[in-house]
Order: sequence, then structure tokens, then C-alpha cells
Amino acid sequence: MTGASTGASTVSGRVVAWQQRHGRNHLPWQQTRDPYRVWLSEIMLQQTQVATVLDYYSRFLARFPDVIALSQASQDEVMGMWSGLGYYSRARNLHRCAQQVVSDHGGQFPPSAAALATLPGIGKSTAGAIAAFCFSERAPILDANVRRVLTRWMGFKHDLASAANERQLWDRACELLPHEDLVDAMPRYTQGMMDLGATLCTPRTPRCGECPLAQDCVARREGAQAQYPVRTRKLSRRSESWQLLVLRDSQGRIWLERRPASGIWAGLHCVPVFEEMEALHACVNGLDAGPSLQISELPPFVHVLTHRDLHLHTVAVSGHFRSLPTQGGEWVAPEQWSEIGLAAPIRKLLETTQSTLW
Ligand code: ADE
Repeated sequence: MTGASTGASTVSGRVVAWQQRHGRNHLPWQQTRDPYRVWLSEIMLQQTQVATVLDYYSRFLARFPDVIALSQASQDEVMGMWSGLGYYSRARNLHRCAQQVVSDHGGQFPPSAAALATLPGIGKSTAGAIAAFCFSERAPILDANVRRVLTRWMGFKHDLASAANERQLWDRACELLPHEDLVDAMPRYTQGMMDLGATLCTPRTPRCGECPLAQDCVARREGAQAQYPVRTRKLSRRSESWQLLVLRDSQGRIWLERRPASGIWAGLHCVPVFEEMEALHACVNGLDAGPSLQISELPPFVHVLTHRDLHLHTVAVSGHFRSLPTQGGEWVAPEQWSEIGLAAPIRKLLETTQSTLW
């Protein structure tokens, strides 16, 4: 780091001053130091854009105003409120975390990053963010955006696929934290790093001309912004084909099963899924529905997940069923779809089927 170690010339001083003038200051979770609210926002924001989170955040808080209310809810209701946000393990961990805060911490979130990081769904960076925002602790954050800002500014060329290099970056992030006026500076610095990563120091075409760190940014000097951060291990994408069976009974209800506790859409409700079309047809042939069956094949579509492309093929069957179609499912009326945790593409599929087919 260049320049004096205090005041506006330090990295933290420049980020704090920039945040105050140009950062985001009116987001609802910035108007509080209540760990419950800050925690909820940080979990929602982990993989979801601010614009999408705003709505979910206020609806969630209206239904679950504090950690006790959330801890007492059923998992189904929590999943229902989360439905559409994606990455559902976040919702399951959120619920478990609320229960643990109540059972192990007397309903108060523990006031340190180290203790927060022991709770379900709270990783080291999220723990740092909550501790900085709520308790002004000198705890660093290192989410994808901040990683990009820091590695560019430092010219950190080491491969972050290595745990030792990753640790080194955490250490460097720690050294850069503010030393003075922590009550105000820690939340502002933390938000400022996030804001820089989200608004100026973007993956493509960063707006270096407006950046408070541009004067001594190594990547900028090298003209090599696109090369940071360095990480060699690439995530492999896989492709899978799923056959979906939409069954509709004479009352307009849909047969839904619950997905297994781990894997894609874990714990959410879903129509029956088959790996092979033959198995789906065998199931349809075995249905006890007399001559009333109407069978339609819908156009296939692709649902893109983080590491996988799901190619979804749907067969829709309506009829008067005289026995339960599969084990472990239930008939669910359209009015109930909004109340249960339903995988978002399945919800969309059912709505489309409803309006175009039936
Ligand atoms: N992303 C993660 N945390 C955030 C926050 N506090 N404000 C805006 N975006 C974020």
C-alpha cells in the first residue's frame, strides 16, 4: 500500500469517503443494525440481485418479524416464502440457523464473526459482513465482488484454487480494514467494498475513471483487469434430461411429490420426475383412471442451474383417478401452490399448463 497510513489517503479512507458520496445508502437493510434483519438480507443477497431481494425481504419480514417467529415456522412455510429466489439450501439453512440461534444463543445472534460463522448457512464472508454491519467488528468480507476489487487493486496473481493463496488474500483483506472511527467506518467500508464491486469494478468494462482506488490499482496500471482474480479450477457443467409427469385430477388438482432432502430442488414440491421416458409411460399405463385419460406431450424446455443444464420433457395427463398415482405424493389445488415450496420452473410449468392446456 502506498501513502500515509491514516485518513483519506488510505485504501479504507478512500473507500469510506467514496461510499458516503457515491455508494448505496438507502437499502432497507442499511437502516438497521438488527442482526436478524442484516443476516436475512445477506443470505438473500448471496446469489440474488438487490432488485429481486427487495420484495422478498419485506414480505419475509412481514411474516417473520424476528428470529423467534422464523424459528417457530414450518419448513414448508419458509420454503413457500422463499419460492422463486432459488438456491433453496439457503432457505433450509436459514430456518435451521434461526432455530439454533434460539436454542443455543437465547434468541440473540452471537456478536462476533467467528461465532456467527459456526451457524448453518453463514460462511466466513457473510459472518464478516454481519459482524461489521451490526457490531462494527474489524472483520473482512471476501465475496466474489470484493475478491475482484482486491485482487485487481493488489495485482494478486496467485491462484485462488489453492487454499494457502486464499488464506493469504484473507490476511491482506484484514490488513486493509479501517483502524479508526470503527463504529461508522466498518459498516461503511464493508458496504463500500460491495458497492465498488457491484457498480464500478465490474467483471467486464470496469469504470476505473470513477474509482477511488484507481490511482494505485495494479490491474489498471497493467491494463489487465480482466485477468483478475486468478483461479484455475473450472466448474464443470453437466447436462441432464428429466421427464416430468403432470397429473391433473377431475377437481383440477395436481399430483405433487416432495423432492429428496439433497440434490436439485431438495425438499421442494415437484411433479413426479423420471430419468427415462419409458419409466414415465409405464407409470401412466399403470394408472387406475379408466377410459377418462387425456394425454398430451408439451414442448421441451431447458432450465439452467449453476452447474447443470436440465432438459425438461413434460407429459401432461388429466383424468378421473381412482387410486393414488404414486407413493408419497398428494393432490394439491392451484390455490395452495403459492403457500408451499414449489420449485420455480415447476410453478411456471403448471401455470402455463393451466392456461394453455386445461
Ligand atoms: N450483496 C451482499 N450484501 C449486500 C449488501 N449489504 N448490500 C448490497 N448488496 C449486497
